[in-house]
Amino acid sequence: MTVKAEIESQEQGAAQARAHSNIALVKYWGKRDKQLNLPATGSISVTLDALYTDTAVRFDPELTEDQFRYGDGSWQTAEPRLTRFLDLIRAMAGTHGAAWIESQNNFATGSGLASSASGFAALALAGTQAAGLTLSRTALSMLARQGSGSAARSIFGGLVEMRRGTEADGSDAHAVPLLGPDQWPLSVVIAITDNRSKTVGSTEGMTRTVETSPYFSGWTDSAEQDLEAMRHAISARNFEALAEITEHSCLKMHALMMSGRPGLIYWNPATLAAMQAVRELRSQGVPVCFTIDAGPQLKAVCEPSVAETVERTLKAIPGVLETRHSRLGPDAHLTGSPVCS
Ligand code: DP6
Repeated sequence: MTVKAEIESQEQGAAQARAHSNIALVKYWGKRDKQLNLPATGSISVTLDALYTDTAVRFDPELTEDQFRYGDGSWQTAEPRLTRFLDLIRAMAGTHGAAWIESQNNFATGSGLASSASGFAALALAGTQAAGLTLSRTALSMLARQGSGSAARSIFGGLVEMRRGTEADGSDAHAVPLLGPDQWPLSVVIAITDNRSKTVGSTEGMTRTVETSPYFSGWTDSAEQDLEAMRHAISARNFEALAEITEHSCLKMHALMMSGRPGLIYWNPATLAAMQAVRELRSQGVPVCFTIDAGPQLKAVCEPSVAETVERTLKAIPGVLETRHSRLGPDAHLTGSPVCS
């Protein structure tokens, strides 16, 4: 029987959850503590309805090593990053059994679409529930953060702020919801310009930046100003202000990435052409702006009424392979069992 089938048969020690991916408008890049994965700055994101990860977990007292499989693939001994994360859950629950973990994204993994965000958020929820724990969303967010910083935000739907926190133990470094998905309906159109996995992942890229960029202090010193301005833009539903801060934070992060040694360049010609097309649309009065993460895909944030125009424009750019459209998505939730508190 598969893990999912056993969960459907209500077996104890098992649970499954869905968490949606998210895209930061005010970016996170750099850590203040690598061990606890504490961010050097806060960040603000939108959770995406169309992109998610489903994860099923079953603890098995007979099993000695955690086992993982992606989709219908074969079972493999789980990678250390996964086992370390499950160790946190085992320590909280006081259990020792290893786990069977099945996970699947409804989008390409490692293509700059934030699979670690939805992946660790889904694992935090399914894993704690399978271990017999029912955590608050704040505690879930702190746990998810230790898997991946951006995962802390995917515990919540809509518009979300990740708090940097100041405590050394990370007890105040978690996400909080700003607005629910229906309180300010927005669309995100993603332009995929390369399907290959990125060459330098976020965790490694951040370390390089923190250690070698002369601009890192400028990045951390100016973060609170961006966060404050974005909070205002969100509470006023001011798209123009949101657009200006989003592009500023994105371009500032990429300038920072480029200023390390060796510098990180995540864009390709199609990324740049898409950036220019978005700016051209905005100059014509279309409410749209861009953001780009540690990869070459462009994410256009816009008002839903112009999503079709934005998608058509991006699709027509040479080098844009495909586009995806998403509205804002919900909180991470259990599937097949009651939603956690
Ligand atoms: C560019 O959350 O993937 O997407 O904490 O090391 O797992 P780790 O990094 P990760 O970094 C995300 C970086 C980003 C910006 C953002 O999502 O805020």
